[in-house]
Amino acid sequence: MEAMVEMKGIGKSFGSVEALRQVDFRLNPGEVVALLGDNGAGKSTLIKILSGFHSADRGSMMVKGREIDFKAYDVTVARSLGVETVYQERSLGERQPLWRNVFIGRHRLNRWGLIDVKREKMETMELLSSVLGLRGAGLSPDASVETLSGGERQGLAIGRAMHFGADIIVLDEPTTALALSEVGKVLSFIGSIREDGRSCIVISHDLGHVYKVADRFVLMDRGSTVGDYRKGDITPEELMARMIGLNGEVKP
Ligand SMILES: Nc1ncnc2c1ncn2[C@@H]1O[C@H](COP(=O)(O)OP(=O)(O)O)[C@@H](O)[C@H]1O
Ligand SMILES: [Mg+2]
Repeated sequence: MEAMVEMKGIGKSFGSVEALRQVDFRLNPGEVVALLGDNGAGKSTLIKILSGFHSADRGSMMVKGREIDFKAYDVTVARSLGVETVYQERSLGERQPLWRNVFIGRHRLNRWGLIDVKREKMETMELLSSVLGLRGAGLSPDASVETLSGGERQGLAIGRAMHFGADIIVLDEPTTALALSEVGKVLSFIGSIREDGRSCIVISHDLGHVYKVADRFVLMDRGSTVGDYRKGDITPEELMARMIGLNGEVKP
């Protein structure tokens, strides 16, 4: 099976800080991988290399069988290959109507080159009902973003990425700022990525949040990938013990 993403020996430094030392990472089609590790382990740096935000100092990366030349790789190229990161901090404009948010920067144009408002609203409605499962009188494309809960906003951002054809969807700590009731919603949106046959990397430092939804767990510690377990091969208790073991190690 061809990997969606295959990274080998990735290294990345920021000045004297070696954020990534030795990273090997693979993402398969239709798979949700949880990237786990303590603060500073290098999780965000790793996915920023995948999404074209940073380039690696060394190592190799393949996306859908294509060898990536880091010198010619950026966020736009990554997107064109289907890689999309849903950033937690990339919050939507609160008072903007939902349809504006969905199409910001990526408009549907009519044959006169003008924004096709009718089509954008229609597609937004489809997205709201198919991805968020929101329907009925309560919701319209004209509703403002502030009417959505935190979890629903994440869902909208995920749905938006899927709507624009992303099939490698990256979520960096999507549940961190949320109430527990909202965490469940986000996890079910992540589940819908897989049900749709797409792949997802979800970063978390809380195994409890992502255990249910992930198929595989990749552990990072101080810039390296140090463990890779399929869900069927490890119990949650063992996985937790493995993570605590890493955190408990004396740092050199
Ligand atoms: N833009 C940056 N400039 C300097 N140092 C950075 C930058 N981004 C990350 N780092 C450092 O790289 C290391 C890994 O960070 P990061 O990838 O954010 O870890 P994680 O997401 O696992 O918490 C940390 O020591 C962090 O301070
Ligand atoms: Mg991070």
